Amino acid sequence: MLTGRSPAPRSSDRARLDVAVVGAGPVGLAIAWRCSARGLRVAVHDAAPGSGASAVAAGMLSPVAEAYFGERRLTELLLASAARWPAFAAELTETTGVAIGYRTEGTLMVGLTGDDLAEARRLWAYQQGLGLPVTPLLPSGLRDREPALAPRVRGGALAPTDHQVDPRLLVPALRTAAQRAGAAFVPQAVRHLSDVEARVTVVAAGCGAAALTGLPVRPVKGQILRLRAPGGVAPGFRHVIRGYADGEHVYLVPRADGEVVLGATVEERSDTTVTAGAVQRLLRAGVDLLPELAEYDLVEAVAGLRPGTPDNAPILGPLPGRPDVLAATGHHRHGIVLTPVTADLIADLVVTGVPDPLLAAFRPDRFVGAATGGGPDRTMEGDQWS
Ligand code: GLY
Repeated sequence: MLTGRSPAPRSSDRARLDVAVVGAGPVGLAIAWRCSARGLRVAVHDAAPGSGASAVAAGMLSPVAEAYFGERRLTELLLASAARWPAFAAELTETTGVAIGYRTEGTLMVGLTGDDLAEARRLWAYQQGLGLPVTPLLPSGLRDREPALAPRVRGGALAPTDHQVDPRLLVPALRTAAQRAGAAFVPQAVRHLSDVEARVTVVAAGCGAAALTGLPVRPVKGQILRLRAPGGVAPGFRHVIRGYADGEHVYLVPRADGEVVLGATVEERSDTTVTAGAVQRLLRAGVDLLPELAEYDLVEAVAGLRPGTPDNAPILGPLPGRPDVLAATGHHRHGIVLTPVTADLIADLVVTGVPDPLLAAFRPDRFVGAATGGGPDRTMEGDQWS
């Protein structure tokens, strides 16, 4: 589709651009990086880069722990992207000199009560049935790995290949990488697709994609907390912990600098108000699982909006009837983990015009006539793009 190394982009000369990326979150920035590195003239448009869902996200890279019933195609994409993360993180750090908090200790999934454990075990059995690496642990094995877990925790399992990265380090690193590769930045909001002029426009605008494209992307609110271990020390646990605690589903993500991210609610709302009830539920579940959190500083309570879609899967590829406009949005709960595969596959599509087979289940036109029920798990293998 688009090939060849061209002169450096000038944002004032939009008509000569190869690619306009709308949205400077991790997905948009990574696409800009990959396209620029392949010699294309790229401009990224965003009035407030990095201010969307990634600004609050925890950064779990969890294709195994987040493999849910009925989402097999999405799980395949998550696994494909997670497999790219080690090389992606290394290349990004090498290119920019910026550490991004990529950690590989793995994820512990735990159940506080007998009921919690029964619920968790159903999901682990499903995940194991897909052949995913989930290793059940006895309570003694759990506490050997994480002595800080509450004695009440009834059981758990290890997902050793589920890792983490810090999105607040990732976004500036991606911006630096994209800039060094030659991408230009236009600090303005895009309200209509006609505001940008390029041979290909990539809409990576998260929830904002709905107004720009008419795609069914809706905000899904998440409230999330940040705590800090007292005394400037690292938290007393190393794994990402995903817990079921008296029916609440929470995750706890430890950072080397003492921060712990504790999240998150999942609410069909479009406001970003932080509510006392949500903070109370998150803290109660977190402290029930890891009692030492009661002594931590509570440093931030914030809400963000995930870009949700009708089937919880991203929307990747050309808009129906608009081969010059590619969607890269709707990543919902998985924007960080899906960043490498989205960037690689969209850049390939821009350059070659040929969609990778992995994209077939996620194309935008699956929602045309959606009342009859399309979606990643209902799309025929090997479907071609029109
Ligand atoms: N992936 C974690 C969340 O969306 O809360």
